[in-house]
Amino acid sequence: MANDTVMEKEKKASLYEPVAGKIVSVRQMTETEKWFKIELEGKKELHHCPGQFVEVSLLGIGEAPISISSSPTQRGYFELCVRKAGKITTVLHGMNEGAEIGIRGPFGHGFPVDELKGKDLLFIAGGLGIAPLRSLINFVIDKRKDFGKVTILLGCKEPSQLLYKDEIEKWSKLTDVAFRCTVDRGAPDWKGNVGLITELIPGVDIDVKQTYSIVCGPPIMYKFVLVKLMEKNIPENQILLSLERRMKCGVGKCGHCQINKHYCCQDGPVFSYDKLKGLEGAL
Ligand SMILES: Cc1cc2nc3c(=O)[nH]c(=O)nc-3n(C[C@H](O)[C@H](O)[C@H](O)COP(=O)(O)OP(=O)(O)OC[C@H]3O[C@@H](n4cnc5c(N)ncnc54)[C@H](O)[C@@H]3O)c2cc1C
Ligand code: FES
Repeated sequence: MANDTVMEKEKKASLYEPVAGKIVSVRQMTETEKWFKIELEGKKELHHCPGQFVEVSLLGIGEAPISISSSPTQRGYFELCVRKAGKITTVLHGMNEGAEIGIRGPFGHGFPVDELKGKDLLFIAGGLGIAPLRSLINFVIDKRKDFGKVTILLGCKEPSQLLYKDEIEKWSKLTDVAFRCTVDRGAPDWKGNVGLITELIPGVDIDVKQTYSIVCGPPIMYKFVLVKLMEKNIPENQILLSLERRMKCGVGKCGHCQINKHYCCQDGPVFSYDKLKGLEGAL
């Protein structure tokens, strides 16, 4: 109980005011993405759930929402995968090991981990969408016996854009995980599948009652993936989508991330499809 109180206090403090964090390791992943390992001041825990995000706060520059890509089973640090997209991410890409940054969060509703226990999981990740899904995938791998069948479908435009290459090599060798990867366009040294991620879905053996599909990728991907999941008869409440919106506060105050009646920062970024279906501008 005493620990819970400390944890709740730490969590509340970091929602509005950035906590000091240090980049303890940084690695170039692709031409546009970097991997950051962050430790909070005093090695404080972030206390996140898979699917949540933080606001990375750079003094005098601004803040950007970034998904936590490591599993909460990793203690004492967390990881981010950051695409160089604009003002903040460009400055972040220029920072080295030892640099100090601010962290607010964790924010949002992550994946409903308790609801997923005992279920079959079908992960569908496109491009940078693997960043938030990796947190849940590694959580599930670390607690493998708590979950049913696990299938991971991963896609990106071309082999040079593949993220977490070493790790997906390991996933592909796990005997209790079905892993398939595809690229839209091949390359001379690419021996894997070429084609859209949607083409992998019909080949997955699905027990409709048991299966939850967990999807994250570029906006265009959702439309086509949903058609294929509907063809498989997966119930709409068992399709979980992680969405991206322009965000500022992260705490439901500024309205930047509003999707109709929902605030993506607080009610999401993970939504089940039945909550989004028919909402204008949601998908
Ligand atoms: C919940 C969540 C999780 C995320 N997770 C990740 C992650 O794990 N990794 C990651 O790399 N990114 C992630 N993002 C995306 C990231 O937050 C954005 O790319 C963010 O804008 C980067 O900040 P920036 O200052 O570097 O870029 P910005 O300067 O904001 O520019 C980013 C891009 O958006 C365009 N843009 C800027 N302002 C506007 C505007 N008002 N309207 C439309 N377009 C505009 C710019 O032209 C540019 O192409 C996530 C976003 C959300 C909401
Ligand atoms: S980011 Fe401000 S309300 Fe969601």
